[in-house]
Amino acid sequence: MNQKIGIGLLGLGTVGTGVANIINSPEGRNPLVARIKIARIAVRDAKKIRSIKVDPSIVTSDPFEVVNDPNVEIVVEAIGGIEPAKSLIMLAIKSGKSVVTANKAVVARYGKEISDAANKAGVYVLIEAAVGGGIPIIEPIKQSLGGNRIKKITGIINGTTNYILSEMAKGGAKYQDVLNDAQKLGYAEADPSADVDGDDAADKIAILSGLAYGGSIDRECIPTKGISKLESKDINCARELGYEVKLLAVAEYIENKKRENHLHSLALRVEPTLLPKDHPLSSVNGVNNAILIEGDPIGEVMFYGPGAGAGPTASAVVADILNIVGIKLMQKEGENSLDPLLSGFSWRNCILANTREISQKNYLRLITEDTPGVIGKIGNILGKHQVSIESIVQLDSNNAKAEIIVITHKVSKGQINDSLQEIENMKEVLKLAAQLGCL
Ligand code: NAP
Ligand code: HSE
Repeated sequence: MNQKIGIGLLGLGTVGTGVANIINSPEGRNPLVARIKIARIAVRDAKKIRSIKVDPSIVTSDPFEVVNDPNVEIVVEAIGGIEPAKSLIMLAIKSGKSVVTANKAVVARYGKEISDAANKAGVYVLIEAAVGGGIPIIEPIKQSLGGNRIKKITGIINGTTNYILSEMAKGGAKYQDVLNDAQKLGYAEADPSADVDGDDAADKIAILSGLAYGGSIDRECIPTKGISKLESKDINCARELGYEVKLLAVAEYIENKKRENHLHSLALRVEPTLLPKDHPLSSVNGVNNAILIEGDPIGEVMFYGPGAGAGPTASAVVADILNIVGIKLMQKEGENSLDPLLSGFSWRNCILANTREISQKNYLRLITEDTPGVIGKIGNILGKHQVSIESIVQLDSNNAKAEIIVITHKVSKGQINDSLQEIENMKEVLKLAAQLGCL
């Protein structure tokens, strides 16, 4: 009981370090996190000084040693690039080990080959972190949206370029400076031309399309244009015309009834695109990504969140590890004889906070007599209870009545309720007409 499952971590860079940080502090996370043990780690330079402390005896510069280690049951590939990443994934599969990878470059090109080999070997290769960073999108496409025919996928799926475009749209930022920042923040690929030339987004739309529409997509045939030649002038012109410019990756299912056998086709593209300001993807800024999926019968559904960086990407990698750990524990220990993630395994006790301690901003609307000093008295009572006011306005009065609107800063429910009890007792206050939360 309480047996741990050993993982072999290939790479201890941005993503690998994020994964190790989660595994090293399981408190407050899904209880299955505590069942993961980092058995071995591979890095390129074992002598490098790192931001994370690791037991040097488990670190090697030979990643194949990690895959072959009998204590490693799940291989987590966070090295990047095509080789040796692809060979390591194939070796793990051949050795009967499931794999979790964040490597979209490999999956976009060799996904079918890898998936066929994994099916043959009876192991899993999970890729949640390969698209959308921390956004759960692979599992929803594979599972939650399984009852739908996917008609269109429109995504902002590269964090680096969205970060650059957002900074450029603010004005004044130099392209190269912002790209340097994105590299420092751990968003960009080892070779950032994959980001700015659109190839990373093309890898990701190839993966999403392969999963949503079936079959393998010829990655090299996706028309791809990045942002490296985009001028600030065009971003500004677009804004003046009521548009935002975003690097979009689009996959559209085209019904073609005229073709023999009614064969359908798929229109794929990656290019900087003008979006009307009220389009749901227009307000996706910074490193955030969003994927808008149009399905039948669901309609439109949007997935939004941080699309790159250590924490978000590690969140997705660990989600995949947990899926495999759950199955392994079930097989080994017959735990509940149910998949712990599908069953209610993660329900646990917690204590509800005292309502008086819950904090938020507040909107108050008071109907009062229209006499001098009312606002001052209300302000005094709020001040006495340490309630700080963001704004207070008196609307036009009529019939000798005034309407006063107060927006407070974030305060506890206890403070606001105590204040209101006193305010409502003021002889000038006729009614507390509205009390709403405010974000
Ligand atoms: P990274 O910071 O450059 O880290 C790469 C790690 O792999 C480093 O620890 C490096 O060792 C190690 N490594 C490289 N070649 C190796 C080799 N031949 N043998 C052993 N170790 C080797 O890259 P990253 O940003 O973490 O990205 C890793 C993967 O995740 C890539 O496929 C990337 O596309 C994907 N991804 C990244 C993000 C993100 O936001 N960064 C998001 C989603 C997916 P040293 O430390 O010794 O150099
Ligand atoms: N370089 C990638 C990006 C990392 O900026 O989106 C996440 O896949």
